[in-house]
Amino acid sequence: MVDELKVFTGNAHPALAQGICEYLGIPLGKAEVTEFPNENIFVKLLESVRERDVFVVQPICSPVNKSMMELLIMLDAIKRASAGRITAVVPYYGYGRTDKKDQPRVPITARLIADLLTVAGANRLLTVDLHAGQIQGFFQIPVDELTALHLFTRHFKEKKLDNLVVVATDIGISKRARDLADRLNTPLAIVEKRRIGNTSKAVTLNVIGDVKGMRALTLDDEIDTGGSLVGAVNAVLEQGAREVYSCCTHPILSGNAPEKIQSSPVKEVVVTDTVPVPANKKVKKITVLSMAPLLGEAIHRIHTGLSMGAMFE
Ligand code: R5P
Repeated sequence: MVDELKVFTGNAHPALAQGICEYLGIPLGKAEVTEFPNENIFVKLLESVRERDVFVVQPICSPVNKSMMELLIMLDAIKRASAGRITAVVPYYGYGRTDKKDQPRVPITARLIADLLTVAGANRLLTVDLHAGQIQGFFQIPVDELTALHLFTRHFKEKKLDNLVVVATDIGISKRARDLADRLNTPLAIVEKRRIGNTSKAVTLNVIGDVKGMRALTLDDEIDTGGSLVGAVNAVLEQGAREVYSCCTHPILSGNAPEKIQSSPVKEVVVTDTVPVPANKKVKKITVLSMAPLLGEAIHRIHTGLSMGAMFE
């Protein structure tokens, strides 16, 4: 019966789960995911999953801790309902930025999340553009990590922008930016950025590489406050770039990030739907590309045992 595929979702991003099911040509699994007045979350599966191959789609996005608990409780419910195999499909891995003990007396929350998902019942993880690829190694279960670079490459190839340079918004993203630069056949530049303590504030220090007279395309894994993005855009313009585009997988868009983007000199910010972008955050300069077909294809391949690597050849 593991040959029957089922997809469930919590309340974090039902539209993405629906898009994935449309790609797969199956109905979304029926479940109630509710909250009691005392804030305790309750889950009831409304159909049998006994011995089935079950996928739970839930990014760990705002409200982050609620999305996380919903996911854990869903995994527990599915495990206890005797599913054959359970894959946690976590398009945005929240807490991914707390991934190392780089100062005294701090947690490695990204590892804690890995342990929690596994204990709750996940047999596999499917995710997208982790903050650091090494988070894969926090898991003892198989991890498949997709990237949005294919979508960004296609989008910017279609725009046929000449004299383009890909710009990493910080040193941490520079390897992935190198990959994007290879795909777009452009040079690479890197913005040197420093975070101030454990706050959300960052300062842009320097641009490494030549951007003068060029069109710049900045890359980052997530937009949180928008500070890094706007800092990078201004830095490359100060260094003589003609115009700037940006791409970024996870549009967290906290606080007034959308307004910051809209009033900045950036031409366009291309993001994906790994987390929802509600209408009040979708300002004109933001373009949202859907990861649903890629996630749907990945689920199909995990389910049928086909190669994942072959998806991108
Ligand atoms: C941090 O290292 C990440 O790669 C992003 O640069 C960061 O999450 C962006 O945050 P913000 O939008 O608040 O500058």
